[in-house]
Amino acid sequence: MNETRKIYMDYNATTPISAEVKAQMIEDLNIYGNASSMHADGRHARNRIEEARQQVAALIGGKAPEIVFTSGGSEANNMVFHTAESIIDGTLELSPQWADKLKGRNEIITSAIEHPCVLNSAKYLATLSKKGTLNCKVIFVPVDADGKLDMDAYKAALSDKTLLVSVMMANNEIGTIQDVKAIAALAHEAGALFHSDIVQACGKIPISVGDMRIDYATMSCHKIYGPKGIGVLYAGSGFPLYPLIQGGHQEDGMRAGTYNNLGILGYGKAAELAKANLADYGKTMRALRNRLRDGLLKNIPNIKINGHPEDVLPNTLNVSFPGAEGEAILLSMDLAGIEASTGSACASGSLEPSHVLMAIGANPELAHGSIRFSVGLGVTEEDIDYVIETMPPIIKRLRAMSTID
Ligand SMILES: Cc1ncc(COP(=O)(O)O)c(C=O)c1O
Repeated sequence: MNETRKIYMDYNATTPISAEVKAQMIEDLNIYGNASSMHADGRHARNRIEEARQQVAALIGGKAPEIVFTSGGSEANNMVFHTAESIIDGTLELSPQWADKLKGRNEIITSAIEHPCVLNSAKYLATLSKKGTLNCKVIFVPVDADGKLDMDAYKAALSDKTLLVSVMMANNEIGTIQDVKAIAALAHEAGALFHSDIVQACGKIPISVGDMRIDYATMSCHKIYGPKGIGVLYAGSGFPLYPLIQGGHQEDGMRAGTYNNLGILGYGKAAELAKANLADYGKTMRALRNRLRDGLLKNIPNIKINGHPEDVLPNTLNVSFPGAEGEAILLSMDLAGIEASTGSACASGSLEPSHVLMAIGANPELAHGSIRFSVGLGVTEEDIDYVIETMPPIIKRLRAMSTID
C-alpha cells in the first residue's frame, strides 16, 4: 500500500478544472460587470458571455441562440420536464403551429436508466397525475443486458399521444451509448419532441445535434474539466420552452438570474478545449480503459464487465466483483489511494442497489458489488498498472470475509 499515492478514477462524477480553464478563469475574475447592464463593464461581460455561448454551441454543432445557461445538468433536465408539464396543463401558450402539432399529446417516454434528475422529474409528473392535478402518462422503457434501450418496447410505447421522448446519450454508470439518432427519428416519426441528456457523452464522443435531430439536449460543464454549477439546456430554434426560474429577462426570458460570468466563461474555455481535443481524448481514454479492463480480467477470477462491449464511453469501466461488497471495496481502494465510485455520485450514500445495474438484469448482490472506474486526462499507464496490481488482494480479502455465497 502506498500512503502518499492518490489516483483519481472518478471522472464521471466530476473532473478537476484543467490548467488552461483555471488560468482563463483567474483572469476572468475581473469581469464583474452585470451582463444585463448597458454601460461598458456590462457590455464587456455580455460580449464575453456571447463568445462563450458560441464555444459551447460549437461543441455540439448547435447555434449560439439555442444555448440557455443554467446552474447545471440537473436544472436543465428539470426544465425540459417542466416545459412538458406546461404544455400539458396549458400554462405555456404555444404558437398555432405547435398547438396544432402537439394537440392532445400528454405522454412522456423515458428510459429506466436515466440519471435521477430525469427519473425523478418524470416521477414527479406521474405523481401529479396520480393526484389528479395533471393529465399525463409517463412510460419507462426497459433496457437490455448491455444497457441498450429495448427498441421493441420503445416502438410499442410511441403513439400519437406521445409528447416527449427523453433518452440519455450515454449512461453515467455503465457508459453504454444509445443509438440516439434512431431513437430521435422514431420519436419524430410519431410527432413527438425529443430530448437527450448528453452530460456524460459531451466532450467524450462526437455529437451533432443537427445530424442526430436532437430537439433538446442537457449539458454540464463540470464533466469536461470546467467549473461546477454551470450547465446548458440546448433547445432547437423555435422549439417550445418554459422557464423553471422566473424573474428577469436573462437568456431571452428562459432563465432568470444575474449571469454567472465566471462559470459561463469557464464553460466557454472548457468547451473550446474539449472540441479541439476530442479525437485525442477518445484514443487515449480507450487505451487506458482497455488496459485496466484487460488487467483486471487477467488478475481477478470471476468478474463481470457491465455495459455494452463496443458502444461504450471510452473512459468508463463498470465491473462487478461477485462475493465482495461495493462499499467495502471502495473503502479499501481509498486506503490504497484509488478513488472510484459504486454508482452515480448522486446515488451513493443510498443503500439501494444501483437502478442502472438492476435494469440491466444484475441481481442485487452483483449490483451491490460493482465499481465504476472512470478515467480521465490526469490518469497515466503507470496509474492503471498500480490499480491492476492493487485490486486483486483487496478482492481476495473481501471475498474471504464475505458472508455472501
Ligand atoms: C447523465 C447525467 N445527467 C445529469 C447530471 C447532473 O448534472 P449536474 O451535476 O451539472 O447537475 C449528471 C451528473 O452526475 C449526469 O451524469
